[in-house]
Amino acid sequence: MQLTRETFGQLDDQDVDLYTIANGNGLVVGLTNYGGIITSIKTPDHQGMLENIVLGYDSLEKYKDDSRYMGCLIGRYANRISRGTFQIDGMKYQLACNDGANHLHGGAEGFNKKIWQAQPVREPRGCGVVLSYTSPDGEEGYPGTIDVQVFYLVTADNGLLIEYKAATDIKTIINLTQHSYFNLSGGGTIHEHLLRINASGYTPVDSDYLPTGILKSVDNSSFDFRAERQIGQAMSDLSSVDLRGGGFDHNFVLDYGNEKGLSAAHLYDPLSGRTMDVFTSQPGLQFYTGNFLTEAEHGRGGIPLCKHGGLCLEGQHFPDSPNQRAFPSVILEAGHLYHHITHYQFGVRDNDE
Ligand code: GLA
Repeated sequence: MQLTRETFGQLDDQDVDLYTIANGNGLVVGLTNYGGIITSIKTPDHQGMLENIVLGYDSLEKYKDDSRYMGCLIGRYANRISRGTFQIDGMKYQLACNDGANHLHGGAEGFNKKIWQAQPVREPRGCGVVLSYTSPDGEEGYPGTIDVQVFYLVTADNGLLIEYKAATDIKTIINLTQHSYFNLSGGGTIHEHLLRINASGYTPVDSDYLPTGILKSVDNSSFDFRAERQIGQAMSDLSSVDLRGGGFDHNFVLDYGNEKGLSAAHLYDPLSGRTMDVFTSQPGLQFYTGNFLTEAEHGRGGIPLCKHGGLCLEGQHFPDSPNQRAFPSVILEAGHLYHHITHYQFGVRDNDE
């Protein structure tokens, strides 16, 4: 395993670094301590050709200006909170509203725009970087000072393990995730990728992409990915109401097959033969097909982005959980440890498998 560090740029008089971790077995991951952003993931295709399979930009400045949450860590609360408000023990809190009238991905300046402390780590599990950030009480309206640690570890067998840990001094809410956009062909759209999601339910949303609170079965619907389906086909099967976001942008309620070694999601690109399995300890998986990406914005190498040019599979708690009693709790108590792991496993598969 090889880990190198170089300067990525400067922000607020602080150096921001770019780390590159190569496992010597074909996986090369680039990440920066600005926003905990994964800048690149290179994996071999079925002929051993390395290609970058995440969307990104070339410079720190572009990441600073980015509004698509390209490759970054999301906190304190991933996805939306209705009206940016919630209660804990009868006390009402008001968060920053940065998505119309609602709170999205941690607010006006979420964890994706922070400079994190970084420390290289070598562990039996893998080699990588641990990022740390202390979010002060009241930041973006959230209660409690929280200490957050995120481990990014590249494994010997071509996995990327992301481990989240957090502790608070007073009762608060938390929901961390990672927002990489994957395109296993390394270009074009994700229409021809095939996807399986190990979920029998999903959380339908309203016109603001907020969950209605219902846990709906995927039975006989375009949300049934329990058997592998082509994403473009699945999108064209969406009803006009479900398509209003321009594709999938939904939280799936995962079945706990994970313990049996079954991944939460399996993504396969027949063009390159590349595969990606997602394992997560989280109860939900946001499947987002890059609906808001447009050609007006340019990515790495100045190449225009495009709608459906990448997809996110974000292990998370359900959106707006603080306001939905039926959803698993996102409360973190003082003295308790928030702990989640999401593991992306990369591989290749032959067409006839
Ligand atoms: C998430 C949300 C989307 C969108 C993107 C960022 O995945 O579910 O609605 O906000 O982030 O563009």
